[in-house]
Amino acid sequence: MSTSSKSADPRLLGRAIKRIAFDEPTIAARVRELGDEITASYPDGDLLVLGLLKGSFIFLSDLVREIKRPLHVDFLVASSYGAGTVSSGNVHLVYDPETHLEGKHILLVEDIVDSGRTLQTLVQVLGERKPKSIAICALLHKHIAEHLSHPVQFVGFDAPHEFLVGYGLDHAEDFRHVPFVASLE
Ligand code: IMP
Ligand code: MG
Repeated sequence: MSTSSKSADPRLLGRAIKRIAFDEPTIAARVRELGDEITASYPDGDLLVLGLLKGSFIFLSDLVREIKRPLHVDFLVASSYGAGTVSSGNVHLVYDPETHLEGKHILLVEDIVDSGRTLQTLVQVLGERKPKSIAICALLHKHIAEHLSHPVQFVGFDAPHEFLVGYGLDHAEDFRHVPFVASLE
């Protein structure tokens, strides 16, 4: 698929995309692999898949259908960007899941790891609720964060150091519904 044909995509508000970083078949194949990895990593125990809204909503819905074991789903919101394209580092927990975390395996699902500040804060906060384990699954990882105390166990793709949109990722709330991941002009 050429970039010019995607520029005409009515979902893109007339914005030209610089390039498609990950197209739909590529994402689908990798999500299947991640599902297999995750299934194999949790042979027993209660698994709670905790999606970070809003960015993870499409990734999570595809991912859980590839995890072949019992699980529960819940969500939380932690905002750090506002309408800008540079991470502020101020992680603000907007919603706390009511689900009890104690004794459960928690799989935190994130769209993209940039500075890693959002995740670091969340792992700390959630860890206080005595889960059996906490692991992170991110669709994309920019590998900028070298100071992460908690490693990202499951990574979909190493991301280019560009601002990416689509497949749940937004710029000022636009482009979340675009089915592929692209960088903007
Ligand atoms: P961090 O705390 O700096 O790692 O930022 C993580 C959050 O920032 C992600 O969950 C995204 O919502 C957002 N973010 C980081 N990089 C991008 C990007 O390239 N495009 C869209 N959102 C991004
Ligand atoms: Mg965002």
